[in-house]
Amino acid sequence: MTETPWHHRHILSLRDFSLADYATVTQTAVSFRDVLSRRTKKVPTLQGRVVTTLFFEPSTRTRSSFELAAKRLSADVLNFAPGSSSLTKGETILDTAKTYLAMGAEIMIVRHRETGVPQAIAAELDRMGAGVGVLNAGDGQHEHPSQALLDLLTLCTVLNPDKPSIEALRGKKIAIVGDILHSRVARSNLWSLTACGASVHLAGPPTLLPLNFAEGFRNSPIPGSAEPRAIAQHDTLEPALADADFVMTLRLQHERMTQHLLPSLREYHQRFGITRDRLTACRSSVKILHPAPVNRGVELSSDLMDDPSLSLISQQVTSGVAVRMALLYLIGTRSRDAALLNA
Ligand code: NCD
Repeated sequence: MTETPWHHRHILSLRDFSLADYATVTQTAVSFRDVLSRRTKKVPTLQGRVVTTLFFEPSTRTRSSFELAAKRLSADVLNFAPGSSSLTKGETILDTAKTYLAMGAEIMIVRHRETGVPQAIAAELDRMGAGVGVLNAGDGQHEHPSQALLDLLTLCTVLNPDKPSIEALRGKKIAIVGDILHSRVARSNLWSLTACGASVHLAGPPTLLPLNFAEGFRNSPIPGSAEPRAIAQHDTLEPALADADFVMTLRLQHERMTQHLLPSLREYHQRFGITRDRLTACRSSVKILHPAPVNRGVELSSDLMDDPSLSLISQQVTSGVAVRMALLYLIGTRSRDAALLNA
């Protein structure tokens, strides 16, 4: 692996990611995917270093994926479980982070149901001059950078399996469908996909896709580029699906819905559920993504979800480990010799 410039101490949001950052993450992840296909799947890159997962909200995929990624890099991993921790005795989140800092944690991976918690931890650790890298593993409805980056690797791999690269995304049409209002996955994907030159078409009922939602994204420039971000939004499915190269469906996030936002799940499925019939409007090579967990038969029909010729869900999970290895590597070895990877 060649040394690549990497300037981010933390990965909290993709808003400030440049095209070069996406290329670096993707190329690094491709190298790690090769490591993961070897018989010995471990490299000594983070040997003796402590990585902590601070998940204040339930997670299956993301936490396990980060844990496996850290272990594949030979780090020592501490998993924090809020239910059985001192949080139940009134300890604050910042004090929890400082406890792990005192144990030598150099990277903290943080998920929280409230927007801004990973940022608050990163700011406090920076204030202390701790030199710790914080990775946002999902904060409220705000961002989920590692999910969007694994989606990016998955898309680039489908478009060019032998040599995945972000250039292949330029000009592709990607529909993002469903509960966009509550989705941190959609927000992070909007930054990454548009920065890579794809055009994103959002579709959902107005209660889950507020009027002018896309505006704030459109008005935020791509770092290091004068190109506009190509985003359209629709309150029906058809214009989003027409000639789409990829369809990303999102879970209805019942746990974040504070009011009754849908008449019924049946009606939602009829209007916005992705089914085999509906896909005929897309390009014949269309593929489906979903960050999971999936409400089967609501946002996505069960048969599509289980059809490996159309669904990329398993590939997304596999890409996740390589991408998270790349993120831990880039954060953990910012100033160190990349040659360690090849040792
Ligand atoms: C997503 C999340 O937690 O934001 N899932 C994930 O990380 N795999 C999406 C979701 O929960 O629907």
